[in-house]
Amino acid sequence: MHADSRSPTLGDYRDVVRRVYADEPAFVHPDVGFLSRVLSGKAAYLRHGSARAFSVEGRAFAVGFVDPRVQHKHGRALGSIGFFEATSRAAAIDVLTSTCEWLASRGVTETWAPLNGNPLFGGGLREDRFDGPPFVGCAHQPPAYRSYVEAAGFVRVGGFQNFEIDLSGDAWRAPSAEVTDVTFRRASRARFLEEVRRFMAMHNEAFADVWSEAEVSPDEAVELMGRARLAVPTPLFEFAVRDGLEIGFVLSMPDVNEVLAPQRSPVTSASGVWKIATRRRHVNSVGLLSVGVLPALQGQGIGTMLTARACRAAHELGFRRLEYALVAESNDASKTTVARFGGKLCRTFGVYSKDL
Ligand SMILES: CC(C)(COP(=O)(O)OP(=O)(O)OC[C@H]1O[C@@H](n2cnc3c(N)ncnc32)[C@H](O)[C@@H]1OP(=O)(O)O)[C@@H](O)C(=O)NCCC(=O)NCCS
Repeated sequence: MHADSRSPTLGDYRDVVRRVYADEPAFVHPDVGFLSRVLSGKAAYLRHGSARAFSVEGRAFAVGFVDPRVQHKHGRALGSIGFFEATSRAAAIDVLTSTCEWLASRGVTETWAPLNGNPLFGGGLREDRFDGPPFVGCAHQPPAYRSYVEAAGFVRVGGFQNFEIDLSGDAWRAPSAEVTDVTFRRASRARFLEEVRRFMAMHNEAFADVWSEAEVSPDEAVELMGRARLAVPTPLFEFAVRDGLEIGFVLSMPDVNEVLAPQRSPVTSASGVWKIATRRRHVNSVGLLSVGVLPALQGQGIGTMLTARACRAAHELGFRRLEYALVAESNDASKTTVARFGGKLCRTFGVYSKDL
């Protein structure tokens, strides 16, 4: 049996999510902002890529994504499957098979899962820390999903790693970098959307050679991050500047999932955003979501300075740990950088692949 023939709705997704996590105390609802825009055909992503959702009778859900920018970056007809949720192995196989058939009909020869079109929209299968809430921005995912995707013919091809920096100790204070001609400026909350566009343009350049990352348009970035304006304290969003030009960035945000579990509404719903803003002071951890330096200027100590500033700002705001997040397993420059701050591996996410 394959997926339903009618077009699935956000309600179908929520149904499956409700069933999978009904008894899960640390559950945090995944963000549905991007998914709802994809389903209504309004996502800026759809100006570049295409997507189609599949569901199985309230028991499984998935979305197939085809993005020429991803294919260009990897030099092959790669697709991805995201927003994957299933109540059983059989339902998982059905929904993944239907999604793979659609991807193949669009010329895709290999698909990754789970990946919501682009890692910035969420990706990777959670592999540990199942007794706590998921990392901010990531889906919950029970341990069984690994065997579900493997039963559907997927094999692990890579992944992402999070490293924890203990801000209550002193190791994070040690790294210093001798770069004297770089200054830093905080992102402006009043011009937040402009800052997000600037961040994204630089992010695209900095990550051009990083595994799995692919270009994201400024409009997509605004859709993704626009509502985070109140959730990101401005000391945690900075740009590095040399000769009046922005050359690097760092963006962190409190890991509000600590206080949102077991709230059952998505982080970017109106009530989720309000709770983030009001409960932030009870959060222990900051997630460093992205740090980058323009490619020609990497290896000069600027990334170390940006990370050091993020640690200091988080420490001064009262956070006790910083999770340096979603580093591709093959990203040596990033792993070396976080190691200088005493960063210890604390979470992993797997990315799976299937030849179609
Ligand atoms: C990761 C990144 C932010 C580091 O910033 P940077 O300014 O290039 O790094 P620094 O000069 O401060 O050096 C930090 C450490 O990384 C090492 N490093 C820098 N580039 C490297 C490379 N290409 N390969 C391996 N190690 C590298 C440096 O040797 C240094 O370690 P050491 O002092 O112990 O030798 C930067 O390389 C970058 O923007 N990369 C692309 C985007 C990215 O991967 N971001 C992080 C993922 S969230």
